[in-house]
Amino acid sequence: MTRSDKMRLGLSTRGIGYHVAAWRHPDVMPGGAESLAFFAENARLAEAGRFDFLFLADGLGIRAHDNPPGSLAHSSENVELEPLTLLSALAALTTRVGLVATASTSYDQPFHVARRFASLDHISGGRAGWNVVTSWSEMEAVNFNREAHFEKGFRYDRASEFVDVVLGLWDSWGEGAFVHDKASGVFYDQAKLKTLHHRGEHFQVRGPLTVSRTPQGRPVIAHAGASEPGRQIGAAHADVYYVNEYDIEKARIFYADIKRRLPAHGRDPNDLKILPGIQVFTGRTAAEAREKFEYLQSLIDPVIGIAVLCNLLGDFSHVDPDGPVPDDIVLTLRTSNADKAIEMARAEKLTVRQLYQRVGGKAGIRQIVGTPEEVVRDMRTWFDAEACDGFNICPAFSPGNVRDFVELIVPELQTRKLFRAEYEGTTLRENLGLPPVKRRA
Ligand SMILES: Cc1cc2nc3c(=O)[nH]c(=O)nc-3n(C[C@H](O)[C@H](O)[C@H](O)COP(=O)(O)O)c2cc1C
Repeated sequence: MTRSDKMRLGLSTRGIGYHVAAWRHPDVMPGGAESLAFFAENARLAEAGRFDFLFLADGLGIRAHDNPPGSLAHSSENVELEPLTLLSALAALTTRVGLVATASTSYDQPFHVARRFASLDHISGGRAGWNVVTSWSEMEAVNFNREAHFEKGFRYDRASEFVDVVLGLWDSWGEGAFVHDKASGVFYDQAKLKTLHHRGEHFQVRGPLTVSRTPQGRPVIAHAGASEPGRQIGAAHADVYYVNEYDIEKARIFYADIKRRLPAHGRDPNDLKILPGIQVFTGRTAAEAREKFEYLQSLIDPVIGIAVLCNLLGDFSHVDPDGPVPDDIVLTLRTSNADKAIEMARAEKLTVRQLYQRVGGKAGIRQIVGTPEEVVRDMRTWFDAEACDGFNICPAFSPGNVRDFVELIVPELQTRKLFRAEYEGTTLRENLGLPPVKRRA
C-alpha cells in the first residue's frame, strides 16, 4: 500500500480546551466539560470539518497538583465526564465522525474495556476507537486501593497482556455468527463461537465476550507510548499513534522508528497513522491570529502560571511574576524540559510571567500562530517530510478555536488537496484508510 496523499485529522478534546486559560475566555462555557450540549457542538464542528475522529483524553482522578496550595481552585482541570458515556450520547448525534476514548490498562479490566468499546462500535455503526494508556499519575493510583503508581515495567507488561486479551475477546464471535433462524430455532452458529480461555500472568479471562463481532471487525486502537515498551505495543497493535513533538527532525526520527517496526508484526507501515498534536491560532490576517493568541495568553491567571512553574521546575511560589527568573531558584525537577525552559529564560532574559506564558499555556503541545496559508504551509512541511500522517488538533479552547480551524484551515487544506472534501466511508477504519481486520485464528 502506498502512503496516502491526504492528511488524517483528529480533534482532541480535553474538557473545555488545552490552554490553561481556556475557561476564562469570554466565549467559553466554563462548565462545558460536563455539558452534553458543549460536546455536541464540538462533535458537530468535527463532522462539518470532515475530521476522522473526535478523541477524549482521560485520567482517573484530578491529576494536577495543588502546588502551591490553593492554586488548584483556580484550575478547570477538576471535572470531566466519563468518556464512554459521553461518546455513546455523541454517537446518537453524529453519523460519520469517529469516536475515540481513553481507557487505562492499569486500572481497568480487559473484559470491561472489550465490552464497552465493542458496544460503542455497535451503537455508532463502526466508529469506535480505544486509546490504550497505562496511566501516568500517582493521583490515579490512590483512587484504586493503592498508595503508589505501578512501576513502568510492570505497567507495560500488564498492558501488553491486557491488549491481547481485549483483542481475543473481540474475536469471540465470527462474522454472521448470529443467524437468528426462527424456523429452526437456532439463534447462533456454534461453529462461529470461540471462547478465549485466557490464563496469563496478569489476567484470567474465560470469555466469550457478550457482544457480537463489531461493525469494524473490532474498534480502532490508538496509542501514545513514547518509551521503548510503549513503542512495542504501538507497533504491534495501534492504528493511530499520538505524539507531542516540537521539532520536525525529532518527529521524523520517531516516525521512521515506529514505521520500521511494523513489518515484523506482519503489518504494512501505512496501516498505522502517526498524528502529532498541534494547537492552532488563526485569523483572516496574521495580526488577527496573533491577537487571538496574545489575548488568551493575557488571561493566564498568575496563580496558575506560578503553579505551572512549580510543577514543571521547582519552587516558584515566592517569586515576583514581573521580576526576572531568580539566579538562585532551586530546580527540584531536573527533566530535560525543565532545563530547556530555564536555559530559554536566561538566554532571553524572561520575567517569571513571560516564562510561564511561554511554557504554561500550551500544555506541551506545538503551537502554530498564523494565517490559514501559513498554518497549512507548516502542516504540509511536516507531512511532506514524513514527520507525520496528519495531526491531532488540540484546541486551545472550545468551540471558538475549533470553529476557526474548521472554517479557515480545513478549506485551505481541501483547496490544496491535502484533506478530504467528503468522508470516504461510514466506519472510522474506512475513513482512516485502514485495511479490514482479520479474525485471529
Ligand atoms: C496526545 C497524547 C494524548 C495522551 N492521552 C492520554 C490520556 O488520555 N490518558 C493518559 O493517562 N495518558 C495519556 N497520554 C500519555 C501516554 O499514554 C504515554 O504515557 C506518554 O506518551 C508517555 O509514554 P510512555 O508511557 O511510553 O513513557 C497521552 C499522550 C499523548 C502524547
